[in-house]
Amino acid sequence: MVLHVLNSDGRATSVAKVASSNCTPKGHKTEAETLKGLAPSAIRAGARVPEVRRAGFLHTHRLLVESVVPGTPAGGYLAGSPRRFRTLIERLSCWLQRWASMTVVRRKLTGRCLREEVLEPASLVEPWLPYGAVYLAKLDALCSRAEGSILPFVAVHGDLTMWNVLVDAESARRGEEIGIVDWEMARDEGLPLGDFLYGAADAAAAVGGYADRGAAFDDCFTSGGRYSRWVAGLTNQLTCSLGLSDDLTILMTHACWLGHAAREVASTPEGSRGPFVDIVGRLGARRI
Ligand SMILES: Nc1ncnc2c1ncn2[C@@H]1O[C@H](COP(=O)(O)OP(=O)(O)O)[C@@H](O)[C@H]1O
Ligand SMILES: [Mg+2]
Repeated sequence: MVLHVLNSDGRATSVAKVASSNCTPKGHKTEAETLKGLAPSAIRAGARVPEVRRAGFLHTHRLLVESVVPGTPAGGYLAGSPRRFRTLIERLSCWLQRWASMTVVRRKLTGRCLREEVLEPASLVEPWLPYGAVYLAKLDALCSRAEGSILPFVAVHGDLTMWNVLVDAESARRGEEIGIVDWEMARDEGLPLGDFLYGAADAAAAVGGYADRGAAFDDCFTSGGRYSRWVAGLTNQLTCSLGLSDDLTILMTHACWLGHAAREVASTPEGSRGPFVDIVGRLGARRI
């Protein structure tokens, strides 16, 4: 739950966030710890991020008090405006590219990492997919080829929905900083590219008022899609700047959508299938 703490003239001075669950998984950093660690690089790369003012507990739940980042959520700002979409995702990809270059660590891609990031989410999602078993076999082969290669791990935000991206009209006109909030899912060393792919598709969905995430995915990533050439150009800049091979780019793309789909399966009522599972279904039908 997020509470805006107001001063006497009605302006928000701080934001207080109370965690919905009262435990942080073992070995995971708290949002405050992650934000403190990643804020310097995120700011140097050109984003405004909250400053941690206090971290503690409210009864048994974690409490984080942080500064207000100015601006309005891009989730609403983009509605009905493909022009704003193009400007915003260009700014987002510039920020992500700079942030990645500041935080990159090149390490061997291990079997364990591939299991956690690709194969386990895939087995969670598989029962919901048409030809799920065929897709799993294709992923297995892709992972075997990738195991042992060197991957540029980078800092990731992990939940770059446009509701977590804040823009203000004045700075947007000048092409300046964007605000990034909600650092709960962020990691120091995560898989590259996912923030951009998810952010672009979410932004396209925002243009359409979040009416159809599947159509937004096609707009961005299917040949002939409304924004696909534009998005492909930005994706290419990112992958080239990191030196990601074609095979690893494909693998990172599957990992990105599988992660979102697995979280969706874990959080939606049994028997219903959400938009991210649908997106993985579209990806699974492609040749790998
Ligand atoms: N530091 C902040 N400054 C300004 N707005 C914020 C800040 N933190 C959160 N918000 C606003 O509150 C919303 C919910 O907060 P968020 O941290 O994203 O929580 P949740 O985990 O519930 O998504 C955000 O989408 C954003 O609009
Ligand atoms: Mg949020």
